[in-house]
Amino acid sequence: MTKLANDTSTKTDWNKIRSQFPVLDQKINGQDLVYLDNAASSQMPVIVSDRIDHYHKKEHSNVHRGIHSLSQKATDAYESTRTKVQEFINARHKEEIIFTTGTTDSINLVAQSYGRKNFNTGDEIILSEMEHHANIVPWQLIAEETGAVLRIVPMNDAGELDMDTYESLLSEKTKMVAIVHVSNALGTVNPVKEIINLAHQNESLVLIDGAQAVPHSKVDIQDLDADFYTFSAHKMCGPTGFGVLYGKKEILQDMPPYRGGGDMIDKVTFEETTWNDLPYKFEAGTPPIAAGIGLGSAIDYLNEIGMDEIASREAQLLDYATKRINDLEGVRIIGTAKDKASVISFLIDNIHSTDAGTILDQKGIAVRTGHHCAQPIMQHYDIPGTARASISFYNTEEDIDKLIDGIKYVKDFFS
Ligand code: ALA
Repeated sequence: MTKLANDTSTKTDWNKIRSQFPVLDQKINGQDLVYLDNAASSQMPVIVSDRIDHYHKKEHSNVHRGIHSLSQKATDAYESTRTKVQEFINARHKEEIIFTTGTTDSINLVAQSYGRKNFNTGDEIILSEMEHHANIVPWQLIAEETGAVLRIVPMNDAGELDMDTYESLLSEKTKMVAIVHVSNALGTVNPVKEIINLAHQNESLVLIDGAQAVPHSKVDIQDLDADFYTFSAHKMCGPTGFGVLYGKKEILQDMPPYRGGGDMIDKVTFEETTWNDLPYKFEAGTPPIAAGIGLGSAIDYLNEIGMDEIASREAQLLDYATKRINDLEGVRIIGTAKDKASVISFLIDNIHSTDAGTILDQKGIAVRTGHHCAQPIMQHYDIPGTARASISFYNTEEDIDKLIDGIKYVKDFFS
């Protein structure tokens, strides 16, 4: 993503784009809101909230069930998102797109369904030191149940994976490699294509947690060749409660259902139940229909701007923010990998990150503080947490300037 750092975008009107996010135009604690918590949740442009509103006002009905026209309308709108997701990540087949409630749910699905069927005592699951808890705990749960063990790829102090150790951990015991594409706490962009390639040479499957990657740059799933890939709608201008599990068709076909209920069955008797085809085998019950339609609208929106444009703009803002923070005395950036996405974790000398975040909030500046659901990263640096500014394409240089002024204010406040 930093490769595009020096590209200057000429065709996109970023001020106009910013004005499409009404939530940004408000005062918080009497100050203009500066929203720099996009890695936790991005904001929603009005076109997406209008689309969700339209569904509630004109199309609401259950999906996949009704013969009546309204249900058909809702089903068409909901299912059109599946095609949009397929095209957005360049998946080979539409049925490889499983709808879930988000990245966490997607990873739990794979761990519980694939893991329970395929992991045995002594099998190994390779994770990395920079995983989000959502890509650690589901594997711990299934490891405990099956007797599999976790092996961890360490990182250096810049926040880059130790690829030599990764290679040495791969063995005939490796059943799954589960690695984050972009670290939510450090911003590191991992060399996932190489990670996948090495795992495949070892005949191991790979799951990539793409929650922080898909919103920020083009992901081509066929090019990456991941076996599973996961992401969430609410980090890409869509609503909460909705996400995606991509899985290769032949692998998904062999996996048992994760949850039972309506929609995921073919035939039910008390003696035996048979499963629906992909993708519905993994989608029990009435889904969050409005949220699914919202994701489709968010994808249209991102496509209209262009993912390359977005990556380029965010790289410019990242460069600008990095330089300005590095110029501040007594402020240290945690996560200095060569390839980074627009996340800056930082520490201010002698000031707890929660205190820094609280004072920044008084200035209307929203950052996340703490361990960012990635405690092993904090253990690596021997720190309780960081303050994290995560930047989106609708942020501006002025937002960064206000953050810098805010950090100076925090330093003065505690001096
Ligand atoms: N995983 C989200 C974050 O990084 C919630 O803040």
